[in-house]
Amino acid sequence: MEIIITETYEEMSREAADIIAECVKQKPDCVLGLATGSTPIGLYAELVKDNQAGEISFKDVKTFNLDEYRGLDPKHHQSYRYFMQENLFDHVDIVAENTHVPNGFNPNAEEACAEYEESIDEAGGLDLQLLGLGHNGHIGFNEPADHFPLATNCVQLTESTIQANSRLFDSIDEVPREAYTMGIGTIMRAKKILVVANGAGKAEIVKKAFLGPITPQVPASVLQLHPDVTVVVDELAGELL
Ligand code: F6R
Repeated sequence: MEIIITETYEEMSREAADIIAECVKQKPDCVLGLATGSTPIGLYAELVKDNQAGEISFKDVKTFNLDEYRGLDPKHHQSYRYFMQENLFDHVDIVAENTHVPNGFNPNAEEACAEYEESIDEAGGLDLQLLGLGHNGHIGFNEPADHFPLATNCVQLTESTIQANSRLFDSIDEVPREAYTMGIGTIMRAKKILVVANGAGKAEIVKKAFLGPITPQVPASVLQLHPDVTVVVDELAGELL
């Protein structure tokens, strides 16, 4: 595992964008696993800049996002599909059909999850998976548990996640109760993994995840077993390393 500590969020974003850009340059038809959340917003902006400057092209790249709310219209401003369009897809030369987010609109969870897993395999597997880190060590929507979920699965959001997310919706009743997420097995099969984290609030979990014991109670700790992981954190998130 390589850990890179940068001074600022901007440098973390540039460093992480460089790793993704390198992957795209080396393999123009690579398969990227992507994340939403606040952490990667800066690195997506850097990739947009690179694309618009003609330094990298996404025209043959395929993408698969980690997760999506179940039952939420992809056009809803809180859907992860909407987030990706706004932060990356609408601003680069990617082909719409090559971008994948779990189908939150398919009410048949088993089918939606199996289809997603299959489409990743059909694309040849993930060359690089980008991950943010939840405060409790979650990756994707894989929350602390007594086992590591293997494949793409449907999760019940915890009461605290529903409460936390309610600020982004008009009312708490609108907050989805479930989500589809890649499993830990899906993530671990990626050839390369890139984790980003910033801010003092992440310092404790960064230490636990990468220096602590490997346990499903800290889902990100499983990444210590992956042969090719790069962690890019700013100084604040890295202060306990
Ligand atoms: C998002 C995702 C989540 C986030 C995590 C960190 O697709 O899978 O696991 O990466 O919740 O979120 P931020 O970056 O907002 O701190």
